[in-house]
Amino acid sequence: MTLKELDIIPEPVNISSKEGAFTLNEQTLILTDLKLKAIAEQLKQILLITLGLNIVIKEDLQTKESNNIIILKTINNEKQLNHKGYTLIVSPNHIEISASTPSGVFYGIQTMQQLIPTDKIGSKNIDLEISIPCVVIEDYPRFKWRGFMLDESRHFFGKEVVKKILDLMALLKLNTFHWGLTNDQGWRIEIKKYPLLTEIGSKREGTTSQRSYRSNKKNKVPLDGIPVSGYYTQQDLRELIQYATERFITIIPESNFPGHTTAALAAYPELSCTGGPFKVSTRFGIHKDVLCIGKEKVFEFTQNVLNEIIEIFPSNIIHIGGDETPKRRWKRCLDCQARIKDESLGSVENLQVYFTNRIAVYLGSKGRQVIGWNEILNDKLIENAICHYWTMNLKQVLEHARLGRKIVMSEFSAVYLNYPYNHIPLERTYNYEPIPNELESKFHKRILGIEACLWTEFVKNKKNLEWQTFPRLIAVAETAWSPKNKKNFESFQKRLEKFNKWLDLFKVSYAKKEEYLL
Ligand code: ACM
Ligand code: ZN
Repeated sequence: MTLKELDIIPEPVNISSKEGAFTLNEQTLILTDLKLKAIAEQLKQILLITLGLNIVIKEDLQTKESNNIIILKTINNEKQLNHKGYTLIVSPNHIEISASTPSGVFYGIQTMQQLIPTDKIGSKNIDLEISIPCVVIEDYPRFKWRGFMLDESRHFFGKEVVKKILDLMALLKLNTFHWGLTNDQGWRIEIKKYPLLTEIGSKREGTTSQRSYRSNKKNKVPLDGIPVSGYYTQQDLRELIQYATERFITIIPESNFPGHTTAALAAYPELSCTGGPFKVSTRFGIHKDVLCIGKEKVFEFTQNVLNEIIEIFPSNIIHIGGDETPKRRWKRCLDCQARIKDESLGSVENLQVYFTNRIAVYLGSKGRQVIGWNEILNDKLIENAICHYWTMNLKQVLEHARLGRKIVMSEFSAVYLNYPYNHIPLERTYNYEPIPNELESKFHKRILGIEACLWTEFVKNKKNLEWQTFPRLIAVAETAWSPKNKKNFESFQKRLEKFNKWLDLFKVSYAKKEEYLL
């Protein structure tokens, strides 16, 4: 028996190649039950779009048919150690995908899709016969959190771009779409109680053209004069959540508090320490005006905004940002100083944790859990707040992990996809290991997973977005899913050549080898 190269990404846990092939054609039937009907429809659509094959679904697992069938089923299998996994069996007569959950069956379909010979993709030949190589695959994810973050505050891309990202995430078995919807340069989510957030906060007059943050001193850098605007209505958001849910992807919204709030302050300056006025920012970097922690109306505002967010987003986990919050305004604000005194916080340094904890308790009362960037860490931080690591202080993060805190890893020097390829080449992203060496194995479970981030200060359109993201997100997907000992950059690159055919089919503007291998 020769071992066939099946070239699947992410690399499955176990592959055992067999002799022969299953022949997929117009007579092939998909057999399933009611519970998996929607997933069977998705498989049908994939075969229609990629091959032009129009295949019939039968809701009947007790059938007498035994030839030329694809069976999708859920099973109660004690042996199936990881309930997110699946088994895919391809034999000459049938293909069977089984799992203990519908998501497992869905992931099995993503793998099966990659067994289609690439020269047949997009062929649309009516007499098509597709050979799927016989194989037994047993597979399950390494990490629970397999994420991608898109910042839409700095540039707004809209529904169709997001749907395409969700499609590609599904193919890569990614399950968490973290969506940055508010920041200094734009507020992109409709909040009915505060209409000015989008009326004022979703529009900026342009962008300072200079890339350097440091030299962005007032009035020195010219505006490019290209207005940026856009936001999602609550109905748009519901539509996208539905789209993601069908692909077993949880959308985690991020509204950033108490820093990175200039767009909100432009709409409601009374939420600041100074009272403003403010403009939606046209420059990047850290902004000194932030929410005032001394004023009760700031808590009322934050909670009201979050009320609408949790009404729309079913995710158990809500991202509240919390990064890069300067304390300069708080030091001089009478309200903030009164808060420090009244709450015995000791210093301005503890105002942020006071804010985070109050919001986390509030969200907790609504059954939701908070995640925030690693700047939220503090000895007094509420126990169940998840830490999203991106930079500095890894030691502090690991201390928190040892004490029980859950962590998501997004090391900026490896998985920030906005950096150019000569800064973060594909190999660096691929070889990034989310469990730090220093962390003792008994604490490894505290690392929930890995998330690639695309900040869009300098990503202005869909083409840039796709070029920065692919293929580096594919590398992150393999780290997120595949066993550590199965990872190999040489093998990945070879498999990527085949995966690129899928990107071609989706018309993705991905970076080519000569561009990412610097
Ligand atoms: C971040 O990159 N400021 C989280
Ligand atoms: Zn204040």
